[in-house]
Amino acid sequence: MKVAIIGGGPAGLYSAILLKKQRPEADITVYERNRADDTFGFGVVFSDATLDNFEKYDPPSYRRITQEFAYWDDIAVHFRGTVHRVGGNGFCGCSRRKLLLILQERARELGVRLIFETDIEDESRFADADLVVLADGINSRFRDKYATHFQPEVDLRSNMFAWMGSTRPLDAFTFIFQETEWGPFIAHAYQYEVGRSTWIFETDPETFKRAGLTGLNEKQSADRMAEIFGWFLEGHPLLTNRSMWRNFPMIRSQRWVKDNMVLLGDAKATAHFSIGSGTKLAMEDAIALADAMHRAPTVEAALTLYEQGRREEVEKTQHAADVSLVWFEHVDRFWDFDPVQFAFGVMTRAKAITYDNLTLRAPEFVGQVDRAFARHVRDRGFDVDVEKPLVPMFQPLRLREMTLANRAVVSPMCMYSADEGVPNDFHLVHYGSRALGGAGLIFTEMTCVGRDGRITPGCTGLWNDEQEQAWRRIVDFVHTNSAAKICLQLGHAGRKGATKLMWDGMDRPLEQGGWDVISASPIPYFPDSQVPREMDRAAMDKVKAEFVAAAKRGEACGFDMMELHCAHGYLLASFISPLTNQRTDDYGGSLANRLRYPLEIFDGLRSVWPSHKPMSVRISATDWAEGGITGDDAVAIARAFAEAGVDLVDVSTGQTVRDAQPVYGRMFQTPFSDQVRNEARVATMCVGNITTADQVNTILAAGRADLVALGRPHLVDPAFTMKAAAWYGAKDTFCPPQYQPGKEQSFRNSVRDRQDFEELKIKAKPKTRAELKAEATKPLAAE
Ligand SMILES: Cc1cc2nc3c(=O)[nH]c(=O)nc-3n(C[C@H](O)[C@H](O)[C@H](O)COP(=O)(O)OP(=O)(O)OC[C@H]3O[C@@H](n4cnc5c(N)ncnc54)[C@H](O)[C@@H]3O)c2cc1C
Ligand SMILES: Cc1cc2nc3c(=O)[nH]c(=O)nc-3n(C[C@H](O)[C@H](O)[C@H](O)COP(=O)(O)O)c2cc1C
Repeated sequence: MKVAIIGGGPAGLYSAILLKKQRPEADITVYERNRADDTFGFGVVFSDATLDNFEKYDPPSYRRITQEFAYWDDIAVHFRGTVHRVGGNGFCGCSRRKLLLILQERARELGVRLIFETDIEDESRFADADLVVLADGINSRFRDKYATHFQPEVDLRSNMFAWMGSTRPLDAFTFIFQETEWGPFIAHAYQYEVGRSTWIFETDPETFKRAGLTGLNEKQSADRMAEIFGWFLEGHPLLTNRSMWRNFPMIRSQRWVKDNMVLLGDAKATAHFSIGSGTKLAMEDAIALADAMHRAPTVEAALTLYEQGRREEVEKTQHAADVSLVWFEHVDRFWDFDPVQFAFGVMTRAKAITYDNLTLRAPEFVGQVDRAFARHVRDRGFDVDVEKPLVPMFQPLRLREMTLANRAVVSPMCMYSADEGVPNDFHLVHYGSRALGGAGLIFTEMTCVGRDGRITPGCTGLWNDEQEQAWRRIVDFVHTNSAAKICLQLGHAGRKGATKLMWDGMDRPLEQGGWDVISASPIPYFPDSQVPREMDRAAMDKVKAEFVAAAKRGEACGFDMMELHCAHGYLLASFISPLTNQRTDDYGGSLANRLRYPLEIFDGLRSVWPSHKPMSVRISATDWAEGGITGDDAVAIARAFAEAGVDLVDVSTGQTVRDAQPVYGRMFQTPFSDQVRNEARVATMCVGNITTADQVNTILAAGRADLVALGRPHLVDPAFTMKAAAWYGAKDTFCPPQYQPGKEQSFRNSVRDRQDFEELKIKAKPKTRAELKAEATKPLAAE
């Protein structure tokens, strides 16, 4: 077998090593345009888990690599004169140059041919090769040459960054967030060998310009950085090596394989430096390729296997990198946070590290986070324990004069079980049992303001006395038997009306018994949906009057709070999104115009809703579609509602148009809540694939929302909150006297269960290499 590898970086060299081990008879050549020791950059970083992989696949190179490594366990966050350290992270740093020399040596030893100072311009010279590996890095010539086949996407990020080095020793992976007269600068720094550390500097484009960095040469810009971070560098110099400021390109390719050619490493996909995974991805690509070559009978089959098997893992890493880089791009949002909460945000930014996970590793740090959270709650007038505080989920919140005992919320969910809009025994049991289960706030499903405003024939409404009476029964039950508050969600279905019950075909038009639907513009939802009538002023006045009448009935029922549904493509959302609003009057065009009618309705509601009771608005913070609402629009929308008197923005996303492309995942809508809360400075509730109390605490402690709503988890577990209360020891969580013995038992058992769980987790966690090294170098105790 003949293999040609273009590029002698980590991906090219490691794939040469693994393939040669597998097929000693193969003729494998690596072509590299640079000289053998002519490498740019300073250090690279690997996690313990990545090193475990290297150990498994090639022990000799693993041993040489780890002999040269610097290990550390802690992450240190420097912010506004404070330092927070969190242990148990298990990272290693190594000089990029040494890593490449080790891999070159190992490849040569195995019989790989390494040809340096050879720039490959055309792969046709490898016509006789069975396999051509394109490991030619971030600016891959061959990816670009076959761009129509590989379909690469390059997302050039807004922040500027530069890679430098220093002799400053570091004993932790160090983040420094530095305020300057020009704006915030960030340093990501770590030691990679004795007397050498990597320093990546990052800043936003405006700060970059204000700091006069545009046009400076390497030396001048290093001097500017040394001025800014001089207090920390303690006289150590900053070193440069092609340390030019750039924008990071996030690269994704639709295809990785063409005939017998395969993209590996940065050529195929990049991962932002803030999660330190570029070299890891490159070397793990080489592992995946070697595995596929081992398992498949032909090169063609192996390349298909490689692409199919590897894609998910790469996309997961890229997703984590995306979330992380966005956090750094918007660091100014958190600049006024309490430093410990800020540090918690840094640690949990990419979702992999959570509140519970940190509690195990760094209980003192999480204790500080909890105390800071509780102090903030106490500053709002609550008499809470700040020395031994409850976890964030069980801290109270006040909106106007409504006090919530905890931050867990039952999200609004249509039950499609009403007849002529009247809630029945199903609804009483449904809402009642969730209130008994301990959630601080229960939302009703979207309750429609008129018969023609229903989504389906099973939706609840509030336009007549019978409905009012039925809702009053539910509200009374909640108030009499639980500590929960209950919020009425009012809405109008708009163009998504007259559709089937969820289990008969979500959003599909009714075949019989439908009614005429209205919207901002006459655009049907599905091509075969009813074409809605564009609302004229008379229709707008009529619907507004219906909203106001429903709000009055809501007050008569005794609801504690009211939400205006402006999300998910229903009537008011159809005014807000440019994809569904093509009006040419005062209600179409600019965002201010598109918001005019929803704000008019909000004003109408606010004027009849008692001033001591809060109101929220649910928005779709993105349409997940080209030309639709974006996170920045959501901030403007939230600001407009806040000015109109909204107390909380309930941040959902999408469901506006059929061809949306949502990016799902754990807590996938939380970044929008974060953006709205910390840019528009308004209280938010987040929702969407949040399934554990651990996630609830992570979101709240990081200041990404004020309340956390759970929908589907509550459908299977009405007592979600009570179980979490037992787990975290929130003893005062209300429990109806009838259920008290159950509460006592679960609180008692939880203490033991939690201890067992923590011990198991601690036992199961392998020692980090830093811990092992520290043990090995500890002096023996005197006899
Ligand atoms: C200064 C610096 C510091 C970094 N620090 C880290 C870190 O701490 N952690 C981390 O995980 N990642 C880090 N990275 C990123 C990391 O280096 C890359 O993600 C990783 O090297 C990707 O490996 P690769 O083999 O795909 O590409 P590269 O390492 O870029 O290798 C590609 C090679 O192909 C050669 N080449 C390109 N075109 C041709 C051609 N036509 N003919 C012949 N040869 C060609 C290039 O000269 C290059 O040597 C750093 C990058 C830089 C620049
Ligand atoms: C069965 C069902 C019905 C829903 N009905 C409504 C609704 O009436 N109003 C609303 O704003 N959202 C509604 N939603 C959306 C939820 O409130 C929530 O935003 C969504 O389910 C994501 O949260 P989750 O991942 O915790 O389920 C509904 C969701 C489900 C599963």
